[in-house]
Amino acid sequence: MNAVEPRIATQDEKTVGLSITHESAALHVSGSASYIDDLLEMQGTLHAAFGLSTCAHGRILSMDLDAVRQAPGVVSVLTARDIPGLNDCGPIIKDDPILADGLVQFYGQPMFIVLAESHDAARRAARLAKVEYEALPAMLTTAEAIAAESWVLPPVDMHKGDAEAALAAAPQRLKGKAHHGGQEHFYLEGQIAYALPRDQDTMHLHSSTQHPTEMQHAVAHMLHWHSHQISVECRRMGGGFGGKESQSAQIACAAALGVWKTGRPVKMRLDRDDDMTLTGKRHDFDFEWEVGFDNEGRILGLRVQMASRCGFSADLSGPVNDRALCHIDNCYYLDAVAVKSLRCKTHTVSNTAFRGFGGPQGMFAIEYILDDIARHLGRDALDIRRLNLYGDSAGDERVMTPYGAKVEDNVAPAMIEELAASSDYAARRAAITAFNASSPVIKRGLALTPLKFGISFNATLYNQAGAVVHVYADGTVLVTHGGTEMGQGLYTKIRQIVAHELGLSPATVRLSSTDTSRVPNTSATAASSGADLNGKAAQAAAIKIKQRLTDLFAKHHGVPADSVVFANDCVQSGSASMPFAELVIEAYRSRIQLWDSGFYSTPKIHWNKETLQGKPFFYYAYGASCAEVAVDTLTGESKVLRVDILHDVGKSLNPAIDIGQIEGGFIQGMGWLTTEELWFRPAGAQQGRNMTHAPSTYKIPAASDCPPVMNVKLFDNANVEDTIHKSKAVGEPPLMLAFSVFFALRDACSAARGSTAPLQAPATAEAILRAITEDATA
Ligand code: MTE
Ligand code: MOS
Repeated sequence: MNAVEPRIATQDEKTVGLSITHESAALHVSGSASYIDDLLEMQGTLHAAFGLSTCAHGRILSMDLDAVRQAPGVVSVLTARDIPGLNDCGPIIKDDPILADGLVQFYGQPMFIVLAESHDAARRAARLAKVEYEALPAMLTTAEAIAAESWVLPPVDMHKGDAEAALAAAPQRLKGKAHHGGQEHFYLEGQIAYALPRDQDTMHLHSSTQHPTEMQHAVAHMLHWHSHQISVECRRMGGGFGGKESQSAQIACAAALGVWKTGRPVKMRLDRDDDMTLTGKRHDFDFEWEVGFDNEGRILGLRVQMASRCGFSADLSGPVNDRALCHIDNCYYLDAVAVKSLRCKTHTVSNTAFRGFGGPQGMFAIEYILDDIARHLGRDALDIRRLNLYGDSAGDERVMTPYGAKVEDNVAPAMIEELAASSDYAARRAAITAFNASSPVIKRGLALTPLKFGISFNATLYNQAGAVVHVYADGTVLVTHGGTEMGQGLYTKIRQIVAHELGLSPATVRLSSTDTSRVPNTSATAASSGADLNGKAAQAAAIKIKQRLTDLFAKHHGVPADSVVFANDCVQSGSASMPFAELVIEAYRSRIQLWDSGFYSTPKIHWNKETLQGKPFFYYAYGASCAEVAVDTLTGESKVLRVDILHDVGKSLNPAIDIGQIEGGFIQGMGWLTTEELWFRPAGAQQGRNMTHAPSTYKIPAASDCPPVMNVKLFDNANVEDTIHKSKAVGEPPLMLAFSVFFALRDACSAARGSTAPLQAPATAEAILRAITEDATA
């Protein structure tokens, strides 16, 4: 570290709230950020590949692996029988075999592991297996699963009030249906793990995972080991988006099993096609409802059935569907509602967490319902949305959610009005109506949609975090916490929080990789709560160290402890000032502890998962988005012309990073609802095979799909709860800003057909043409 010039502290020079660049930004853009595949390989490293099933549902009659074993470079081939402990990597329910044993339940399910001298040799050999199956009937869709009552978990009901009575008494009623597709995570870095043998039956595992502790547990269960035998480390992921919360376990277990079997280091890196074939995705949902409302469009009663395609195992489907239930309201007050949630078991890959974790799915339904009501009444959809919002003043009766918590921080009404004004909604609505009247082929559409997203894990126990702060004797600081870095900027925010607390410049604070041997029993970095939880924990650790340094400084200079200020890399009180690094060396010489740990658990929350009632969320994050689109009614092609976004991150810890999350989340949501379409072969040979297993057939948004006008603003709003520096979580909520694009497309399609367009998501060109031309009742 360079020597620091002593300066008098100015209280306003704090790093929290400033747009500090991402701690790895320079490495990202120069290609020098080290991912697991960039680590120098140890001598003797073996490479692992999975052998995959070519049957969606069937009994394995025989598996002849001779040709695999004899292939060039192959060292060992492992099947379920080689697993010494539990052949399962399911995060909650144990229905998720690491390797299929006797039964395959989706096309592409891992059945064996090849260990070879090179990645290529392992993959080539994996194709040489001769497997005979007794094919069993394969169920691929939610409709088939519902008919057969095939569930990964039993159906769940959520009730508030008497929905049937409210429906019966409502002046107007509508029935409807909607569907949205799943979504591939498409993290740039695919799933990867690199396991290293260590002495005395221990192992170190580099895993690209959002959940190092769960990887530790999965490997321990597989090997019948204890947690203290396995350390799991992750410096950064090239994206996770929920896809590396539970799904990294199978890859981690495969590498670890290889080490256990051979005593050599083993790396498993999935190729993109294998990754897209064998790892789970966002759940697609089918909705059916009946809604009762008054002549103005105010919802009086609602009955909804939501059915999700979970795939062959439970994975995280329980909590994902619970969150869908808890977001069926989005920003809207529902007086009487009954929701049935079906968790369908199908013979497809097991679906999992994906940015929003069921929240986007639940919210899609209510937005669709409100859009239907507006079109039925011939009103602007924004007016119907406004009419149904939660109350926003103390004493308002319209604040109770279907799950028994009150909405006490509602800023959606204010945000909608601010955005409607800044985006010039009313004038543009009139202009679009005029444009459409004179444009026969190109039709435009406009929509403004709000969002409210609950922050905290539904399962109360996960809302805890730990951190360790080391101050070294040279005055530099190393922080470790339980959260993982996947590009979202968590390490940068933690760096700012600790630097802020100790009055240091951010460069003085470095983040170490996340490692279960440094901070144990961590929760997944998920539910957008990484900075909320780990930020508070790191701050708590820094405060303890700061207290000791304060006491030393106060004693040394004969000043009161409460007058001591840490800022500008210095510690000062009145005219007494010294560089932080000098105080630290003095503390070391005085034998004062210069490192400490911090712990945080979220207050106020509780949740009964049997009754689906409680206060699962500490607070809500809000957002609103207005999108204008154009649709070519001859080809079905569409374009987003302009987007205006107003988003609530509380008091921002780092506006640049937060805006990056908002832009990225919006574009990712737009991809989900427009061009990203998963397609599983419905019948015949290769039934159930995911045919969209590469970017050639699966289209994520490109730079050219970004709206040419994209105005993003942070809403001025401090969190009413005591969160870290009054900030709000930002990771997932912005994905749901993309509803504005989908409903603007539906608006344009409806203008084209002259009636309510039955547009479904994703709104691909084909879907748009169908929505414009097809019989809506078919
Ligand atoms: N941003 C980037 N760049 N990469 C990611 O993988 N994951 C998202 C979001 N933003 C993700 C991201 C998801 S799914 C979550 S839950 C949060 O980041 C997790 O990080 P946080 O809790 O620190 O916000
Ligand atoms: Mo995010 S889906 O909670 O990893």
